[in-house]
Amino acid sequence: MEEFSQSPDRSHWATHYRLKGFEQSGESVQKELIHYLESAWSRKFDRVLPQGTPEERLAQWQSELERPKEDADTGLVRNDLIERMVDRSNKLHDPRYAGHQVAVPFPELAWLQAATSLLNNGMAIDEMGPASSPMEEAVMRSIAHFMGLGPDANGVLCHGGTLANLTALLAARQRRYPGNAWRDGTSKPCALLVSDQAHYCVARAAQVMGWGEAGVLKVATNDQHQMDSEALVQVFQEAKNRGVEVLAIVGSACTTSSGSFDDLEMMADFSEQHGLWFHVDGAHGAAQIFSKTHSMVLKGMERADSIAMDFHKMLGVPALCTGLFYRNGQDGYAAFSHEANYLYESQEEEWWNFSKRTFECTKRMLSAAVYGIWENHGPDLWESLVDRLIENAQAFARAVDQRPGWELFNHPNSNIVCFRSTQFDNDALRRQMIDQGPYYLVKTVFGRQTWLRCTFQNPLTQEEDFMGLEAIGQELPQG
Ligand SMILES: Cc1ncc(COP(=O)(O)O)c(C=O)c1O
Repeated sequence: MEEFSQSPDRSHWATHYRLKGFEQSGESVQKELIHYLESAWSRKFDRVLPQGTPEERLAQWQSELERPKEDADTGLVRNDLIERMVDRSNKLHDPRYAGHQVAVPFPELAWLQAATSLLNNGMAIDEMGPASSPMEEAVMRSIAHFMGLGPDANGVLCHGGTLANLTALLAARQRRYPGNAWRDGTSKPCALLVSDQAHYCVARAAQVMGWGEAGVLKVATNDQHQMDSEALVQVFQEAKNRGVEVLAIVGSACTTSSGSFDDLEMMADFSEQHGLWFHVDGAHGAAQIFSKTHSMVLKGMERADSIAMDFHKMLGVPALCTGLFYRNGQDGYAAFSHEANYLYESQEEEWWNFSKRTFECTKRMLSAAVYGIWENHGPDLWESLVDRLIENAQAFARAVDQRPGWELFNHPNSNIVCFRSTQFDNDALRRQMIDQGPYYLVKTVFGRQTWLRCTFQNPLTQEEDFMGLEAIGQELPQG
């Protein structure tokens, strides 16, 4: 034993498991991140999205990778790695960020993430996550009840909305297919109903399940991108006539491109009438359930069999962290029925062995941020965050609407705003915005028309932050 503890080993592993090194690297990372936040909050960055083509950026990182190694004793990674990453990353904390739908994380959560990275409890089974498993179970039960899903509701956390949607649809297949689909596969053609504006991951899920393109019954939408109820009846009937087993209907709450909410009440009625599984892809907008003002658009969601909600979109939690909720918590076990004798002592439904309900075997301690916020604030913090983001989007939309030469796609019910210039070429306009900085917006295409798209993710965004937008484009030829 003496020999073991006194080991004179000076190899790299020993160097990198030292308290002093941990303390020093912590201090320097903290300094770097504080500097990043200060710069972002005082709008010091030239542009939110750094310039450079993918190839130029790759060349830079590649050439740095090929430099001579630093003395390995100085630290696990080069001293300037974080500085380079900050410098070359999209600056989400800059109040002028209104790009994609990723959360601008509450900075404090970075330390919580650091703690869970260090603890690294895997969570496949209870023994691997003796703290994080009950934390997850407690907080998911509590949030599921808050969402109005009833006394048997429950849920799990997983790595992203894409995975949550696929998992929910696996449960749907197991519960609605006549036979044991998990064990025997499906011999009859199966399909789900979804609007033609849904996120691509819903179609991908059907195709992963082997249903092919024919397994995705796309229902036309109205001019507000909501599923058309008459088209729904028609598509469903045609599929039945072809002998297709229609197992599920998926509502978008909201659509990714335009922030439109399907009529979930209508879809709940339809699913009840036809014995379908009702899944709500609320990856982006289910978060509005926390807002008294902005939850009306989710009416009917409480009747869903399953709901996917990303905590890493509107709720300020670092990616990836998605809640998959079931009205009947037992349904969570239907998605996967694998026997894993080396892991489980019993084949029973045991909440504490999370890999029975998730794709992941090893899973990060995802519950820490969600539990921490829910324990200390309940729904209040998320309510004020959601309200703030949507109010910003609505204020911006009103301003666009009043300005000559600009057109609004719709008055937003979420934090996504689509708009376009009626004077300039919108693709060129966006390119110019990105090249000249500081703004960073994304674009989308409806029909053949390009629309500019903002997602107001940063609660520190002020009205003035977007006042200059209109001036951009003056140098461009008329579109
Ligand atoms: C409506 C919708 N569903 C699913 C997804 C996919 O979620 P994730 O990126 O967490 O996998 C997104 C992402 O933007 C989305 O907007």
